[in-house]
Amino acid sequence: MKDIALAIIGGTGLYQLAGLEDIETLEPETPYGAPSGPLRIGTLAGKRVAFLARHGEGHSVPPHRINYRANLAAIRALGAAPVLALNTVGGIGDRFGPRVLACPDQLIDYTWGRVSTLCEEPGTEVLHVDFGEPYSAGLRKSLLSAAQGAGVAIVDGGCYAATQGPRLETRAEIARLRRDGCDLVGMTGMPEAGLARELGMEYACLAIVANWAAGAGPDPGETITLEEVLANVAAASEHLPGLFRHL
Ligand code: HPA
Repeated sequence: MKDIALAIIGGTGLYQLAGLEDIETLEPETPYGAPSGPLRIGTLAGKRVAFLARHGEGHSVPPHRINYRANLAAIRALGAAPVLALNTVGGIGDRFGPRVLACPDQLIDYTWGRVSTLCEEPGTEVLHVDFGEPYSAGLRKSLLSAAQGAGVAIVDGGCYAATQGPRLETRAEIARLRRDGCDLVGMTGMPEAGLARELGMEYACLAIVANWAAGAGPDPGETITLEEVLANVAAASEHLPGLFRHL
């Protein structure tokens, strides 16, 4: 399994990887339990690529119930492949309207009550990993140059706010996130990024903006619907196969 070149974790609306061929399916157990669903390992642009649907392939696992540790441990067991996390998000900053793709470079964690470390069990060594730059510079750079090669527009940078969900935010909460300097809001960015760092994995986020976050768009009273979210994710995802081929 050492030959996996890249692992991709799909978020809301992204339950399989278009263009993945010769697929082999693994259903691993890990010391932390079972991942959200099977790992699909296939060939993309001549490389072996692993794919995992973060919420399960039928979107049955809500953000706060995802076994982030099992998901990452299952990928880590395949070798040292870098992990590209696809995260469906709401846009807060003006540059982050619906259907925009973005590669954030910072995050703030507003989640609570999730198992957020591998150091949970008594007797495990306590790690205080450096997390000043939560995403791996090398993988971010590769993603941005792949986008350039594929002619796909990606906003370089931005701060991702990880909220608890599964409900969407109030307008006051989004106004607070904006004051905090956040550009994007999603429910699954943490503890995933922190656990990847504890596991020593290269990890970056490709955020797919599905909607304006509450009150952030041109019509502040707009209601966010699942139909809108899924339609925008589907439209923005059309760029992904070309991008991944270059990556
Ligand atoms: N908020 C949080 N998570 C999200 C959103 C949002 O507006 N849209 C998609 N995921």
